[in-house]
Amino acid sequence: MTAGAGRERLVFANWKMHKGQAEAQAWCRRVAAALALRPGRVVAVFPPFTALAAARAGGAGGESLALGAQDVYPATAGAVTGEVGTDQLADLGVRFVLCGHSERRRLLGEDDALVARKVAAALAAGMTPVVCVGEDGPEREHGRTEAVLRRQVAGAVEGLGAEAVRRVVWAYEPVWAIGSGRPATPEQAAEAAATLRQSLRARYGAALDGHEAPVLYGGSVDPENAAAFARAPGVDGALVGGASLDAEAFVTLVERVAP
Ligand code: 13P
Repeated sequence: MTAGAGRERLVFANWKMHKGQAEAQAWCRRVAAALALRPGRVVAVFPPFTALAAARAGGAGGESLALGAQDVYPATAGAVTGEVGTDQLADLGVRFVLCGHSERRRLLGEDDALVARKVAAALAAGMTPVVCVGEDGPEREHGRTEAVLRRQVAGAVEGLGAEAVRRVVWAYEPVWAIGSGRPATPEQAAEAAATLRQSLRARYGAALDGHEAPVLYGGSVDPENAAAFARAPGVDGALVGGASLDAEAFVTLVERVAP
């Protein structure tokens, strides 16, 4: 991806723990039909594991709508009861994998070291990890946002070479903005994107020359505010939860972020 006006716009729908098979298939049919393939625009849907196959049957995994997974176990396959490995995701045509979503960090105790293993596993399987980082409310109030982002970025890329890091997509999702109806400001999103890229530069230096990491904003993005985030300097698109559940609302949002 290149810097400047020609950068790729990414709009991702994270359904979290919502939708069964019939609904997933219908949503994907509608969205895939409504969105023509546009050069420079990548739209992806992240259904729960149980609806990945239905989403694919509805057209996700095709040209206009890519398929993503909300998580992965960091191995190809094996004796890990209840988990899903990269072989299984590859079999479904999954291209993107969320790693380290704050809900998993908070509710399931996922730490930076586990996130790093997931990032490495996704890359090894030829998928694109979408690493979620972001501070919680008290961390922002106490002026710790930058330190938290730096720690999470460093943790996620631990052990990765520069070539691998170039293939990572980032999502700045402040915990206090998720599902709260209280989004960050576009300025806060831009600041976080800059911090994130600085952390990568501090670590990799010239090995990342010519590469500007793609950074999405997530947290109470809706069709009304999406365009403002898309215009924020250094923000390449949106990771959308609640407002992605309705197919029509999501199509409107995509058209506003990446017309
Ligand atoms: P909401 O859009 O519902 O705030 O969720 C954001 C999110 O967590 C996407 O991953």
